[in-house]
Amino acid sequence: MGVAKKSKTHCIGILTAGGDCPGLNAAIRGVAKAAISAHDIKVIGVLDGFRGLIENRTVMLDNRSVSGILTQGGTILGTSRDKPQKMSMGGMVMDMTAAAAENARRLGIDCLVCLGGGGTQKNALHLHEHGGMNVITLPKTIDNDVYGTDVSFGFDTAMAIATEAIDRLHTTATSHNRLIVCEVMGHRAGWLALGAGVAGGADAILIPEIPYDLHLVAEHLLRRRREGKRFSIIVVAEAAHALVQPPASDGKADKRRNGKDSAPPPPAEAATPAPAINLVQESMASRLARELQQLTETEARVTSLGHVQRGGVPSATDRLLCTRLGVHASQLLGEGRYNVMVAMKDGVCRAVPLAEVAGKKKTVPLDHPWLCAARAVGTCFGDT
Ligand code: F6P
Repeated sequence: MGVAKKSKTHCIGILTAGGDCPGLNAAIRGVAKAAISAHDIKVIGVLDGFRGLIENRTVMLDNRSVSGILTQGGTILGTSRDKPQKMSMGGMVMDMTAAAAENARRLGIDCLVCLGGGGTQKNALHLHEHGGMNVITLPKTIDNDVYGTDVSFGFDTAMAIATEAIDRLHTTATSHNRLIVCEVMGHRAGWLALGAGVAGGADAILIPEIPYDLHLVAEHLLRRRREGKRFSIIVVAEAAHALVQPPASDGKADKRRNGKDSAPPPPAEAATPAPAINLVQESMASRLARELQQLTETEARVTSLGHVQRGGVPSATDRLLCTRLGVHASQLLGEGRYNVMVAMKDGVCRAVPLAEVAGKKKTVPLDHPWLCAARAVGTCFGDT
């Protein structure tokens, strides 16, 4: 690839911030290779997120150092959740915005490319508005909740990992005639639970966007049993929560909830005593499993997928996305277009002003096609 025309940017810093995810290295490679080869830009890797900029911990990146990393999980630069404006320094929390900007200036950085999720969009905008730095961001997160882009990298891989786990849970749940509650990540958004739940054929999917009624979930599982199904899989997003029932002054909350005078589900004490799920502190998923076990009189187990969802090699879809977003970022750098996030909209890379994105969250719309399709095949969301 030859140098096209004179680049408006001569030197960039690149950092990864927030929780890691598969695809960060593919994105670093995409930005760096295209910036070096097509625009003759010098590329400095900043270590451990914004902290590395403040502590002057950087490495030079060349074609050789970003070669062979496309398929690697994690981030070769390291990451942290530190914010320039609230950085813990020697036991004190300090605003290090000016120091970050000064260090970048001394390194000759014209623009800082920040790969991160919602928090990183905010922190990058802060560096621009309060430190006078040029920034460009790329949306990464397994949560898929970055506003202004159709998709964030890392999500597709995490969804595939969670889907495979749900597939595996199906076979063991069937053998044992059990309920299995599978907790997936997603921070405050339900994308991962919804995507993996639909792809994995979960019987119930509980997401924060739809507060659930425990009794409706239990009724759904009991109906399945009456239909001869030996097991049920309940996929629950880490931030899912039960509908808060208004306190009933007349003690008739269950009747009001059902909208009729039907008998409430059997009280917990009427069911076979549930074997205790032995955890030091009961997690949300464990409590849900215990409650469903009591209400359905079916043995329940919990699987929390945790950080497994963020590990390992990126999917082909994420590798493509990262490469496209990274190369687009390098084009913007060549043109000197800064303070934008490189988004994927309708299959096309677009520069979205960072000020329109930062501080907002993309949650699952209640009319999203995945949700509608799941309802149409009988998946329970705990609301009907
Ligand atoms: O934002 C990504 C994410 O994995 C969330 O889904 C989860 O809530 C959080 O990070 C976990 O953070 P940590 O890696 O700091 O435990």
